[in-house]
Amino acid sequence: MSRLIIISNRVNPPDDASVGTAGGLAMALAAALREYSGIWFGWSGQKTESFTGQMSMQRVGGVTVALVDLEEQDVQEYYNGYANRTLWPLFHYRMDLAEYERSFDEGYARVNARFAETVLPLIEPDDLIWVQDYHLIPLARELRRRGVANRIGFFLHIPWPARRLITILPRHETLVEAMLDYDLIGFQGADSRDAFGDYIEHVAGGERVASEGPITIVSLNGKQVRIGAFPIGIDAADFTKALESERSRDYFTRMVDSRAGRQMIVGVDRLDYSKGLEDRFLSYELLLSKNPDLLEKVFLLQVATPSRDEVAAYQEIRSKLDMVSGRINGAFATVDWVPIRYVNHVYRRDELSGIYRAAAIGLVTPHRDGMNLVAKEYVAAQDPDDPGVLVLSEFAGAAAQMGEALIVNPFSREEVSDAIRRGLTMPLSERKRRWEILMHGVQEDDVEAWRDSFVKALEATPRSGEAAPSEPRSMAG
Ligand code: G6P
Repeated sequence: MSRLIIISNRVNPPDDASVGTAGGLAMALAAALREYSGIWFGWSGQKTESFTGQMSMQRVGGVTVALVDLEEQDVQEYYNGYANRTLWPLFHYRMDLAEYERSFDEGYARVNARFAETVLPLIEPDDLIWVQDYHLIPLARELRRRGVANRIGFFLHIPWPARRLITILPRHETLVEAMLDYDLIGFQGADSRDAFGDYIEHVAGGERVASEGPITIVSLNGKQVRIGAFPIGIDAADFTKALESERSRDYFTRMVDSRAGRQMIVGVDRLDYSKGLEDRFLSYELLLSKNPDLLEKVFLLQVATPSRDEVAAYQEIRSKLDMVSGRINGAFATVDWVPIRYVNHVYRRDELSGIYRAAAIGLVTPHRDGMNLVAKEYVAAQDPDDPGVLVLSEFAGAAAQMGEALIVNPFSREEVSDAIRRGLTMPLSERKRRWEILMHGVQEDDVEAWRDSFVKALEATPRSGEAAPSEPRSMAG
């Protein structure tokens, strides 16, 4: 079996002490690395005076981790700049927030080259290389330039936007061309995969050559790459196990006590403008003003974890949400009831599982989201005998798999408000029927299935000059 090298901007394998706080993705990648005896390489999150390319190698929870520090200028231009002020907003359909500065492009290119240069000595000829997310789109090109002939896969965790949007990006051609140096590109869903295919066909002048199941082969400038839909999941078994922990039970009891007979609606998000939090608050406000019978009978617990706070758009959304939640609370609260409990705090996974279980509604209403794993965690945390209802944005990748949720347009406050109302009064039999179907999907399409299907597809990709183990069907045939 080949070794696996995972490369991502953020590296966060769980150690024994952080198992409860680590995200599901980190747990899954760490498990894959243990299985394939691999290495996880990326940024340490630390800054250094001047870049040396020196790696610090550690063993964390059975995984070898190789970390590199970046210069202040790198962090500003690459992470806060091109990744989070250019690509992130544009790929989440926020053209109004996307900023284009040449220094960002340069910093992005420089850091990708630095990553390639640094990781190079760790790569052995049979290793599979798996690059994660929008921070590192041109990494394969940098590795190929340095003679790396290994199979290299890429997974985009965020949406790939429609072709009219991507063409707004200055030098989009260069970014996309660089992607042709991957052997396999994974997207969260068929819509992102197809948007990428559309770009290749209608903007870049390439073509779709063949397709089989979730994989399409596209070709451009004499190069072929496989593109596929690989929707990510959660570690459902582990999440269910977490529900039995003392900490989870404590949090469940704590929430049930503090609910004091009221129904709880829960939202858990990174504090990001793509999550649609302001509209969520306003939809909830509409719910209260249209349904006076709900006053003092429900509350919204919104956990919003501060994120990317060096970027102005994140500072702005944070003050906006402080203001809107404060205004709504001021208008509706009574001496012993606060309609929105707004919390900027990080909770561990086991704590969250207990919180989700106590909520009658899981409210997941991003304006745009690659997948959204909170939707899946909420489902996994429910009591089979008395499950809550998931209200889910049609613009979250998860909606393609979770049709039994109450699917809403997050931009329509009336629609979201009506769906919450419907969820709060939904009969038990309907709640159970919907939940059973959702839970089955969450268990089947879990993070292990995601990881294995991607790695198998990458292994099955022919290396240049090699015949494919089984060639997909020609589109012409
Ligand atoms: C999203 C991205 C990840 C990123 C995470 C947290 O899920 O797809 O690549 O790591 O947000 O953002 P941060 O900027 O804190 O790494």
